[in-house]
Amino acid sequence: MTIVKFPDHFIWGAATAAFQVEGAYKEDGRGMSIWDTFSRTPGKVFEGDNGDVACDMYHLYPEDIKRMADMGIRSYRFSVAWPRIIPDGSGAVNEKGLAFYHNLVDELHKHGIEPMLTLYHWDLPQALQDRGGWLNRETIDHFVRYAETVFNSLRGKVRFWATFNEPWCISFLSHYIGAHAPGMTELQAGVDVAHHVLVAHGRTVQLFRKLGIEGQIGIAPNTEWQEPYSDKEEDIEAAYRRSGYLNEWFLRPVMTGKYPEKLVEWFRGKGAELKIEEGDMELIGSKIDFLGINYYTGGVGRYNPDSGDLFDYEEVPMGWDKTDIGWNIYPQGLYNVLTYIKREFGDIAIYITENGACYNDGPSADGKVHDTGRVEYLRKHVLQVHRAIESGVNVKGYYCWSLMDNFEWAYGYSMRFGLIYVDYETQERIPKDSYRWYRKLAQLNWLEV
Ligand code: BGC
Repeated sequence: MTIVKFPDHFIWGAATAAFQVEGAYKEDGRGMSIWDTFSRTPGKVFEGDNGDVACDMYHLYPEDIKRMADMGIRSYRFSVAWPRIIPDGSGAVNEKGLAFYHNLVDELHKHGIEPMLTLYHWDLPQALQDRGGWLNRETIDHFVRYAETVFNSLRGKVRFWATFNEPWCISFLSHYIGAHAPGMTELQAGVDVAHHVLVAHGRTVQLFRKLGIEGQIGIAPNTEWQEPYSDKEEDIEAAYRRSGYLNEWFLRPVMTGKYPEKLVEWFRGKGAELKIEEGDMELIGSKIDFLGINYYTGGVGRYNPDSGDLFDYEEVPMGWDKTDIGWNIYPQGLYNVLTYIKREFGDIAIYITENGACYNDGPSADGKVHDTGRVEYLRKHVLQVHRAIESGVNVKGYYCWSLMDNFEWAYGYSMRFGLIYVDYETQERIPKDSYRWYRKLAQLNWLEV
C-alpha cells in the first residue's frame, strides 16, 4: 500500500453550470437563451427535455451548499447566466439577476467555500442570437459590457474568474458539428466564432486588469488526447490535427498570441479562412493567471484520407472501457495533456476545472446509489493529476464534474454525471458512493493505492 499525497493547499472542488442546474427560467426577469430555444426545437435534445426546472438550484441552493460543505470541498465552480443579468443581452441590467448570484456567493462564504465564477457557459441571450450571435463581432462588445457588470457587482466577493467554458464547444460543436445551440453546420462559422470568442476573452482579461479587480482570471478550454497509432509521420500529423483543433487551436493563441500555423493551413485547405483584425492577436494573448483544463476522454488513431473526417483521422478501436455516454476511459490522456501544456507553454498555474464521468446508476434496493464505475474513473484520473504534479506540472486544484446530475445538453436528463443523484420528479438529492469517496479524498488530501 502506498500513500499518494497531494500538495498542501491543493483545492478540491466541484462544478456546475447555470443552464444545467438553475431552472427558474422565467423568474425574476430572466431573458431567454439560445438553449431555451434549441431545447424547444424538435429533434435537438433527447426527448425534448429543457432547462425550465432542471435541478431547481435557483431555489434550492442553500441546501445544495450545505451538502457541498458536508462533502468538504473547498471551492465551487458555477457559471453566471448572462440572460439573468442582461435579459436581452445588450440593454438594461436586471438587478434581481445580480442579487441571486450575491446570495449564492454569500452562502458559499458562510460555509467557507471559495467561489470560482465562469462568465459564459453557453447560454447566450436569444436576442443576441437573433442578431447573428457569436458570428457577429458586435456580440464581443455586448459580452464585455456584461462582464464589466458582473465584475463591478461581485468584485471583492469572488477571487477566481473564468471568461469562457470550452470555446471549442461554443464554436465548432455548435456551429460546425451542429450538436449544440444554435445548431449550425458550417466550418467557416466554427472558425469565425472561435476567433470572436477568443477576442472577447482577451478584451475581458484586459478589462479585468484595467478595473483592478482583485483575484485571478483564466479560461477553461476542453481538451482531449489523441495518441498516434504508429510512429509514422502521417499518423502523428493526423492525431495532432484531431486533438489540435480542441487543444492547440485555443491554448496556443491564448498562451502565445499566435494560432498554430499547420491548422490554419489545414482549415484553409478545407475552405475556411481565419479573419483576423488588427490588434486581435495582442488581445487574445493577454496574460492570464491560470488555465482551467476540462478533460474527459481521448483515443488512439491514424491517418486515413478516406475516413470522411475533417482531419483525415480515423480512431482505432482499442477495446477500452467506456462510460455510459460512450466515451473512452483514457486517464493517461489527462497526464499527456498536462505535460504537453508544461512543455509548450511553461509553468502556468492549472486548475482541472472539469473531469468526471457519466454513469447512470440510480438508487438500489437499499436506497443508495452504488456508482462504482464513477469512483474508479475519478480515482484513475486524480492519480494521473498527481503523476503530472510529480513531473513538475503546476496543477493547483481539481473540480469534479459534476456536483450533481443535471441537464446534459443534447442528452437532456438521460445522462448523469453527478456525485449527487437527482430525482427530477421530486428534486430529492441522494449522495452517491462517489460523493463519500470524494469527501474522504477532499478531507485527507491523499489516497491509498
Ligand atoms: C461541459 C459540461 C458538460 C460536460 C459533460 C463539458 O463539456 O462543460 O457542461 O455537462 O462536459 O458532457
